Amino acid sequence: SARVVVLISGTGSNMSALLDACRAPEYGAQVVAVGSDRPGAGGLERAEADGVPTFVVPFRDYTDRSEWDTAMSDRIAAFEPDLVVSAGFMRILGPAVVGRHAAINIHPALLPSFPGAHAVREALAHGVRITGTTIHFLDEGVDSGPIIDQATVPVEDGDDEAALHERIKIVERRMLVDTVGELARRGWNVDGRHVRLGRTEQGRTNAS
Ligand code: GAR
Repeated sequence: SARVVVLISGTGSNMSALLDACRAPEYGAQVVAVGSDRPGAGGLERAEADGVPTFVVPFRDYTDRSEWDTAMSDRIAAFEPDLVVSAGFMRILGPAVVGRHAAINIHPALLPSFPGAHAVREALAHGVRITGTTIHFLDEGVDSGPIIDQATVPVEDGDDEAALHERIKIVERRMLVDTVGELARRGWNVDGRHVRLGRTEQGRTNAS
């Protein structure tokens, strides 16, 4: 099955939903590691409780962004992932990660509206009546890669940031589980070629 490394910075409820889904063999993916930029990220405990290896690459341990990015990329590569899933990972991943690993991100707004770290707050402040969530491939921009799927969430009267974000996250978890499963089972197209995920006993069947 497809090897997935999940990156988190906080609670990791999206990561937890993926761990739950991966219990079913027919899902087609397994979480082989969970990485974070923050030692205190709550989701790390859940991953460890499930016996999933974790790693932390703190931003402040590196002199610049590119060194951190390279360290992150190397830690990820050690787990030989078919797919990296950024799920509530709050730092921008650079070319060392994005150029080396197939990676997707989940974002709590309907991109290209409200990219960045405060999407829910900014959507509310803008007065939109409908927002939602987007899953996209990561490229070197900020929340700018090709969109894979989106789902809408209506803003309700009296919503504050926390209430709206919680409703978005309910939709996100379902969409992320669906998308990762689809990618794991079917692969996707890159530059006109079909990329297959997962492995056989003979070894990797990934990209040709
Ligand atoms: C999710 O809503 C995710 O879309 C968002 O952080 C939350 C993490 O929740 N990501 C971003 O805002 C990235 N810019 P979780 O830790 O419970 O999965």
